[in-house]
Amino acid sequence: MLMQLGSVPIVVVSTAQAAQEILKTHERVFLDRGESGILWKVTYGGKDIVVSNYGEYWRKLKSIVVLHHLSNKSVQSFQQVREEEMTLMIEKIQETCGSVVNFTKLMLSVNNDVICRLALGKKYNEREFHTMVEQFKQLVVVFSVGQYIPSLSWVDTLRGLNARTKKVAKEFDEFLEGVIEEHSLRNTKEPVVSKSGMVDHQDRSFIDILLEKQHEDESGFQFTRDTIKAVILDVFAAATDTTFTALEWALCELVRNPMVVKTLQKEVDSVAQGKQKITENDIGKLEYLSAVLKETMRLHAPAPIIPRASSQDVKIMGYDIEAGTRVFINAWAIGRDPAIWDEPEEFRPERFLNSSFDYKGSRFEFIPFGAGRRGCPGIEFANTLMKLSLVNVVYKFDLALPGGMIGRNMDMSENTALTVHRLNHLLLVATSRFENKQV
Ligand code: HEM
Repeated sequence: MLMQLGSVPIVVVSTAQAAQEILKTHERVFLDRGESGILWKVTYGGKDIVVSNYGEYWRKLKSIVVLHHLSNKSVQSFQQVREEEMTLMIEKIQETCGSVVNFTKLMLSVNNDVICRLALGKKYNEREFHTMVEQFKQLVVVFSVGQYIPSLSWVDTLRGLNARTKKVAKEFDEFLEGVIEEHSLRNTKEPVVSKSGMVDHQDRSFIDILLEKQHEDESGFQFTRDTIKAVILDVFAAATDTTFTALEWALCELVRNPMVVKTLQKEVDSVAQGKQKITENDIGKLEYLSAVLKETMRLHAPAPIIPRASSQDVKIMGYDIEAGTRVFINAWAIGRDPAIWDEPEEFRPERFLNSSFDYKGSRFEFIPFGAGRRGCPGIEFANTLMKLSLVNVVYKFDLALPGGMIGRNMDMSENTALTVHRLNHLLLVATSRFENKQV
């Protein structure tokens, strides 16, 4: 489907075949993100990974971040942080057993805490930090007239959008400057080097590693302070909301599908063998858990629209696409396409058991993390955190809707934003599965 938004042509892609043409067959043409208006301004002029256009800067930055923060080895090195936060999450739920708990807030706060500790080295004043992230999220989905009709950019000034953008960018900048200062002062400590010669990341956050890289890099790469701040912003924008949204939807689907919960609890119990909680060493054995999360992301792709832009004229499936066209790949629609999926609206994790679908986008019927060179580098990071959080909730507690409401009748309305959340907060009553047993 082609739309013309002001001066910008936009192609919306909603089939797996067309997605494959864009993300694989003609990948080289579609490696840009395109002009992103407000996001461009808050990321110091696209100095981050998500927004910056394809080129040497993006390539170098992405490879540093993947190698030092998001590789399987780096993700594993933060196991202790995640497991400590899981213990706190279980305790919080335990304390409120039998009464109504806002699982939306709970999951958001667990995610924020883990990501804050990994990215910034500690948790930050919850309310202040959440407000800042929330304002940022609200801002980046505002329609900017000037982005699409440059001659009308004065409209954005008139309705206060430019001032709001400046304010949010300034607040984030001041916050991140403070964090960098704190870490620069602290970083006199020598990094721990293991016997194998690898630097141990155990007690060093993303920001410490980025600061170190800034001083080490002698290849002429423009690794400035703005680069560091933009990458940290990326982590918050790309990691928190997506991961928490997926968890929120997974819990909704479990409450609506009691048979799925039974199967999942049976699998978890057999692996747990009476342990206090599930650790990361156990989650590799949980195939049904993996299928539950994939089915969640098929139905509720947290980032439903994958934005790309063409860098040259190209023919796709017989249609001419001119250079500078923005392409929105609709992962949400592909995940629910009846031409691909049997009973697409049904939540049936079994369809992912023994299947060849992965998160890397090797099959274009299932692309919650995008695909190819611009695909999401946070798959391992997100998957580990989502599995650990979900499995521990399901292992320790039974969940139900308040007031004896039946799961099937649950409100599943969605909001519209960069990430698609539930419209209303998820309120559930948890009861301990091991009330009188010592587990
Ligand atoms: C459930 C969780 C997540 C989902 C569904 C998700 C989804 C996506 C999608 C659809 C893209 C665009 C891919 C493309 O253009 O082909 C993307 C890009 C990206 N994601 Fe994720 N993401 C998640 C978690 C994370 C996490 C945890 C991080 C980092 C800690 C992260 C960092 C990024 C970055 C940096 C990019 C930009 C890559 C580039 O432009 O080269 N994401 N993500």
